[in-house]
Amino acid sequence: MRVVLTGASGQLGSTLLVQLVEGGHEVRAWSGSEVGTRGPISLRPVDLTEEQAVARELSDADPEVVIHTAALSSAEAVRRDPVRGRAVNTEATARLAAWCAEHDRRIVYTSTDLVFDGSRSWSREDDPAEPILAYGRTKHDAEPAVLAVLRGLVVRMSLMYGPSRSGRASYYERTIAGLREGTPQAFFEDEYRTPLDLESAARILVHLAESEVRGLLHVAGPERVSRFDLVRRQAIALGLDPALVVANRQADLTFAEPRPVDVSLDTSKLRNLFPDLHLPKIEEAVMTYR
Ligand SMILES: NC(=O)c1ccc[n+]([C@@H]2O[C@H](COP(=O)([O-])OP(=O)(O)OC[C@H]3O[C@@H](n4cnc5c(N)ncnc54)[C@H](OP(=O)(O)O)[C@@H]3O)[C@@H](O)[C@H]2O)c1
Repeated sequence: MRVVLTGASGQLGSTLLVQLVEGGHEVRAWSGSEVGTRGPISLRPVDLTEEQAVARELSDADPEVVIHTAALSSAEAVRRDPVRGRAVNTEATARLAAWCAEHDRRIVYTSTDLVFDGSRSWSREDDPAEPILAYGRTKHDAEPAVLAVLRGLVVRMSLMYGPSRSGRASYYERTIAGLREGTPQAFFEDEYRTPLDLESAARILVHLAESEVRGLLHVAGPERVSRFDLVRRQAIALGLDPALVVANRQADLTFAEPRPVDVSLDTSKLRNLFPDLHLPKIEEAVMTYR
């Protein structure tokens, strides 16, 4: 496939880029601002908020598929600058979707578990999405434009973990480095996710991009765990001291925005589509990083 991959310099995008190239796909790797090469591929900075530049680059690349992972992905950054958040996450996505609709191309857009308000476990694709974070709203508000594309797919991703191929240390890497140094770290025991390792997430996205699956789909790990349990189990799997992983409670703290408690995702639809799909548990995924 001839692919435009947005966010190719990001955590997920850089993992996807490696897998797409290994899969023999022809990739234009768009970053936001980062330059340089990733293996045989040069990053191409394309600011998605610059409408004319994007239109020019799309017609030059002429992709069969756009895999759109670029985002202002930090909830805090969107809270601080909601205008920028909307421009990158919502409006730029709508323009990519409009181009794909007009040219009958496929688009795969990575949305987020944070479209849910956190009041229920194991949310399904048809459960009501009522984001309580500004970030979640910007991502959720982009979904209809992608769903309106005949060959469009919205993939709501859960929290992802693992080493990054982006050249910037991921949250996972920073956490593990801290634990290796013997620094205690606190994580919420009352906030639940269905985390998935980055390599599996990218592998599934490549399959989905190659397929003609349309609509809305959840991609997440097989286990519903608290953030505390996630890191504790990662530490144990890596042979680190689990006592350094300390539990605290979000309910005891105050935040500028309320934090969703439980955004665990049900993945029945994904598993029905790909019955042979293996979603690794935390220990299995982490063992491959040792
Ligand atoms: N990480 C998670 O756990 C998680 C969970 C659920 C959903 N998601 C979704 O998954 C996707 C990838 O997340 P991530 O964690 O990999 O993000 P990330 O590491 O923060 O990477 C974001 C990417 O977006 C690019 N970007 C930002 N602003 C841009 C702009 N104006 N124009 C063009 N590109 C721009 C960045 O480029 P430069 O750095 O080169 O500027 C970077 O490549 C996002 O859609 C996110 O919403 C992530």
